[in-house]
Amino acid sequence: MENQMISSPIPIGKKTAPNRIVFQPMECNDADSSGDPSNLTIKRYRCFADGGAGIIFSESLTLTTESRARKSQLAITEKNSEGLARLIKAMREVNQDSLILFQLNQSGKLSEAAFSKVISVYPTGDPDIHVLTEEEIEEIGSNFVKAAIIAKQVGADGIDFKHCHGYVCTEMIQPANTRNDRYGGSFENRTRFFRETVQKMKAALNDDSFLLGVRFNFYDGVTGGFGTSGPDEVVEDFTEPLAFAKMMEDMGMHYINVSAGIAGSELTQPSKKYPEGVYRLFGWAQAVKKAVSIPVIGSGYTYLRDGKNKLSEPNQEKKSFLYWAEKNIRDGNVDLVGIGRQSLADPLFAKKILAGESKAINYCTICDRCLELMFAQQVVGCAVHDEYYRDLYRSLKKEPRKK
Ligand SMILES: Cc1cc2nc3c(=O)[nH]c(=O)nc-3n(C[C@H](O)[C@H](O)[C@H](O)COP(=O)(O)O)c2cc1C
Repeated sequence: MENQMISSPIPIGKKTAPNRIVFQPMECNDADSSGDPSNLTIKRYRCFADGGAGIIFSESLTLTTESRARKSQLAITEKNSEGLARLIKAMREVNQDSLILFQLNQSGKLSEAAFSKVISVYPTGDPDIHVLTEEEIEEIGSNFVKAAIIAKQVGADGIDFKHCHGYVCTEMIQPANTRNDRYGGSFENRTRFFRETVQKMKAALNDDSFLLGVRFNFYDGVTGGFGTSGPDEVVEDFTEPLAFAKMMEDMGMHYINVSAGIAGSELTQPSKKYPEGVYRLFGWAQAVKKAVSIPVIGSGYTYLRDGKNKLSEPNQEKKSFLYWAEKNIRDGNVDLVGIGRQSLADPLFAKKILAGESKAINYCTICDRCLELMFAQQVVGCAVHDEYYRDLYRSLKKEPRKK
């Protein structure tokens, strides 16, 4: 099969991604106790870099260790600058071409109470969750700006301002955010944090070649979530996601990465139980692509594999990653295609598929053990193709070790 579309370079802002394959952010919970990259982290990203995807996103980097979702989450504060610079240097030693973007995040409501403070933009009904004051929201904004500056200083090509999967910025834009101050209620108010923070980031960075983008949820799939029409609604209504996409373009974002669902949901990760989820993610990326003229990244391509999947299409080739990646780019439905779980299963995925060596790929089996490891607060990796994580997973499950 052809790989003409995925192998073509694409300009993003003033930089160029050498091909259309994107390694999506994948939290692997393997930082050291200061939030710095450990040897395991460096090894992992070096392998990603060797794989040569056009864009390599870092996993979700926490702006603060005070509130965070993962116990050993990589952090982006002044204290972590040296470690992050080491990470970029290790990647650049093997690959000078791929764009490296840092995903910046505040975990908010999804912070883990066992080791951090759980905070929320709006009341959740749980008295143990602290509802942010206006001043605290502003401080979070300043932390995003500081983190963007650190990202630039340590040599990243840009940042991703995370607005997906239920973390703080998702909460902020949801219709369920009925705060009665300047950050809640109307769409204008709920998107104020985004606009204010971007303006401050741009002023502080003063560098229009440094890339700014957003990964956002087109549909959260929860009551009052983004992609619905009100705090008590759950049915899809895409008026706001499309308006937000336009707003991101107007604010000078260089790309939009389209996702869906709350962390761990099948809306985010199409699964064996819900294979048609891939088509929904394609459609949502396509809707954004129609609304804007900046590059759009699609999500959820891992499930397709080499066509060995449970989609009802009888022709295996016509339901493979390569078929859909080529088709969606050629038809103008998306500009770049993102893979998450597949990047853990085979960090050399892009290199192999671009060289026409699809048969050499270790395909993700959609077992979602990586997710299980993540939610168990373990270090995360492919527990099928990588011996280290396979042994870890077996010892967790108390399964006997295969000889
Ligand atoms: C273990 C794991 C960690 C993830 N970490 C992040 C993350 O840090 N940031 C993010 O935006 N998405 C994260 N995701 C979602 C993926 O980036 C991706 O959207 C999802 O896996 C669907 O794509 P896929 O079908 O290609 O795997 C994670 C998913 C998994 C399974």
